[in-house]
Amino acid sequence: MIQNNTENTTNSLNKKTEAWSGRFNEPVAELVKRYTASVGFDKRLAEFDIQGSIAHAQMLGAQGIIAAQDVSAIEHGLAEILAEIQSGKFEWLLDLEDVHLNIEKHLTDKIGDAGKRLHTGRSRNDQIATDVRLWLRATTDDMITGIRKLQTSILDLAEMHFDTIMPGFTHLQVAQPVTFGHHLMAYFEMLQRDVARFEDCRKRINRLPLGAAALAGTSYPIDREMVAKTLGFDGVCENSLDAVSDRDFAIEFTFASSLVMTHLSRFSEELILWSSPRYAFVDIADRFCTGSSIMPQKKNPDVPELVRGKTGRVTGHLVALLTLMKAQPLAYNKDNQEDKEPLFDTADTLLVTLEIYADMLRGITVKKDNMRQAAAEGFATATDLADYLVKKGLAFRDAHEAVALAVRYAIDKGCDLSDLSLAELQKFNPMIDSGVYEVLTLEGSLASRNHIGGTAPNQVKAAIARARK
Ligand code: ARG
Repeated sequence: MIQNNTENTTNSLNKKTEAWSGRFNEPVAELVKRYTASVGFDKRLAEFDIQGSIAHAQMLGAQGIIAAQDVSAIEHGLAEILAEIQSGKFEWLLDLEDVHLNIEKHLTDKIGDAGKRLHTGRSRNDQIATDVRLWLRATTDDMITGIRKLQTSILDLAEMHFDTIMPGFTHLQVAQPVTFGHHLMAYFEMLQRDVARFEDCRKRINRLPLGAAALAGTSYPIDREMVAKTLGFDGVCENSLDAVSDRDFAIEFTFASSLVMTHLSRFSEELILWSSPRYAFVDIADRFCTGSSIMPQKKNPDVPELVRGKTGRVTGHLVALLTLMKAQPLAYNKDNQEDKEPLFDTADTLLVTLEIYADMLRGITVKKDNMRQAAAEGFATATDLADYLVKKGLAFRDAHEAVALAVRYAIDKGCDLSDLSLAELQKFNPMIDSGVYEVLTLEGSLASRNHIGGTAPNQVKAAIARARK
């Protein structure tokens, strides 16, 4: 037994405010206290802090570093504290700076000297790194669940519209006809990669820093593997200096989150355009929109606009975290305390965005006729006419030229290519025959793109079926 439970310590947490007051001649200034305290936001980590402390105490007990009765006093005390926190009875004190010292002081008030032994072989530096990883691991799992739910919403909508015709755009100009289902499935794919990014990031989150102590490790005969196992980590952080100072995992998480927001921001931009009266492709359910206090006719797509706006906020958090890290020497610096608020806000923003988005997609109605009409108006089948001529033996560049002249002619005449007579079309190339009208139709154009990844309705249907798995 390295410490016995009758030992009497001076400079008790009970007598002085700060855990380190033995070393100082004057108390921390009030303003500085407020400036340096993190309890206002890191109390959110309490549950994970307690989980980590229990695992640490059990290991200290198993290794004979503290007595078995101390371990059980710590376990019971911490369980009570957790209940107090969860019921809102716990009193958080700014004077106690952060989540760790608040809980430790409260524990010592409850159980006496055993509480003072909990911090043996540990520092707040490896403690906070552990808390953040535990919280982030759970949050990453929530994120993946949230994305999956949104993907299901996308699939439901895509299934209803696997053959609904709309114009596909490049440069925001009508390019070629696609199906609305195909368009939606593009977002499914983006989110699929987003899930993979979170899953990959989770592997790096799921390593145990505890045991690194302040920076160099500890002289007690600790068993890090045991703590890792108790807390469900895949293994331990290999280097103690890295363990207390690394926040890559948090940056990666924020990057993965920024990318999800970026994808949803693009989607939002489209919903905003499509729901505007000029496009009138879709209608967003009223519960996701607001009116104007002055213009009675308005229905504003607030939710997609805010998603687009909040993307800036989350990307800002990514930049904040990268900047926070860029000039830090090894190992731990207090700068790292500034990682929490951006991280928490990133998670809160993305989680609620995912939830609201999944619901909003269920409230989308599609104005098929308008979509179809827009596809029919923009010479969307011009490429199909060129391909038709190539299949008749013309070189693609020559076919492109012939069709460009035909498009110009149709623009001057104020009609679509399919409205031109056979005689008119033949002026641009004599090989054109009556079969041309099949490729000039929107359905013909769609059906011809019949390969994996193409927009032919049967391919879209197959893509949705694969995605359901
Ligand atoms: N509140 C700190 C943080 O969030 C944890 C404690 C840091 N340790 C220290 N020696 N000041 O990173």
